[in-house]
Order: sequence, then C-alpha cells, then structure tokens
Amino acid sequence: MWTPSTRCPMQVALALRNALGIKTFVETGTAQGDTAFIAAGHFTCVFTMEIHDEAFVVASRHLNGCNVDMCHGDSLDVLPSLLPSLIGPALFWLDAHYSGGPTKIGKTECPVIEEIQMIRRSNPKHVIFVDDMQIFCTTGVERLNKMVGWSHKHDDWPHVDAIIAAAQAEGPCFCMVKEHILFIVPPECEKVVLENV
Ligand SMILES: C[S@@+](CC[C@H](N)C(=O)[O-])C[C@H]1O[C@@H](n2cnc3c(N)ncnc32)[C@H](O)[C@@H]1O
Repeated sequence: MWTPSTRCPMQVALALRNALGIKTFVETGTAQGDTAFIAAGHFTCVFTMEIHDEAFVVASRHLNGCNVDMCHGDSLDVLPSLLPSLIGPALFWLDAHYSGGPTKIGKTECPVIEEIQMIRRSNPKHVIFVDDMQIFCTTGVERLNKMVGWSHKHDDWPHVDAIIAAAQAEGPCFCMVKEHILFIVPPECEKVVLENV
C-alpha cells in the first residue's frame, strides 16, 4: 500500500489544544493506529474510526490499553452519533480516504467535504486538520494513480478550493495550507497557527 499520510503536526496541535482547552482528538481513517497512538499521549480522550475490517482488528490490537475509543465503520455513519456527545471543542485529524491495497472505500473514495460540514455544523470552535493535501489539486489524482498503479475516481476527490469553500460556507474560520496539511480553525486562532506551523 502507498501511504501518502504525513504525521499530524504535533507542535501546532498542542498549541491549539492549550489555547482552546481541547481535551479530545478525533481521527477519521485509523489505518494501523499510528497517529491515534501518538495522540493518546497528548489528549485526554481519543476517538478514531476505520471502515476496513482487517485494519480495524490490527489497530485494535495496537491500541489495546490506550485511552483510545475505536469505532468500526464509515466516518459518514460514525460522526453523526459521535459529534453530539463531544464536550467542548475537539481537534479533528481527517485522514479517511481510499488508499488502495488493504484499505476500503466508503460511500465515496474521499468523504472530506461531508465530514467538514458535519463537524463545523456541530461546533464552529472545533479545529480541523486535513491530511494529504497534495492529492486535492488539479493533477493530484492523476499523479497518485501513476505512482501507485491503481485507479482512484477523480470525481470523488474535491479540489482544495472546494474544501475551503465548504468550510467557510458554515461560518467564519481561518484556513491555511502548509505542506500536506489544510488547517481550518476558529478565526481567533489564526495567530496560534501562524506561530506554530
Ligand atoms: C491514509 S490511511 C489513514 C492513516 C492514519 N490516519 C494515520 O495517520 O496513520 C486512510 C484510512 O482510511 C480508511 N478509510 C477510507 N474511507 C473511510 C471512511 N469513509 N471511513 C473510515 N475510514 C475510512 C482506509 O481504510 C484507510 O485505512
């Protein structure tokens, strides 16, 4: 499997955690549980969700004994029940998408826009990091297909401008792309992001 994922940038994550008093980290797309494992060392509660049966079992073993709640299913089915239960703002690491090999496709290869809409409607103070922004550009899907040798559906992968527009349509927020990450934060957190990315 080609894994384009970068690690969640912890310096800016922790600065935002401290600024907003965030206790909860939520990840879509667990894979082997590597990011959830790291987040468990920094946040009181971690939730992570994975659609692929085998990855879910492997990650459950890896995360056994950690302060991580694993959810088995499509993020678009799990988030609607999880979001109302969250107390206060949370940090979301959005990384659920088809990655070939032993990964699975949900309702779409990449549910990022629907995830962002649900999260922003639930609480505009939530902080969102979207991983793998190198794919969300005009030639991103073609380059990915050439590199990995399987076929992603172009129409399932929104352009970065559409992702930012969807976030801003739900209310004011500061959005910034740095390397492979899109940051979507409440407007008052702009300075925290700029000083820590
Ligand atoms: C790039 S990997 C995640 C890497 C992981 N977040 C990390 O940081 O180590 C993407 C994962 O998302 C899962 N996935 C794909 N679509 C999903 C969906 N709709 N809901 C939940 N998981 C999904 C795939 O099966 C795959 O394991």
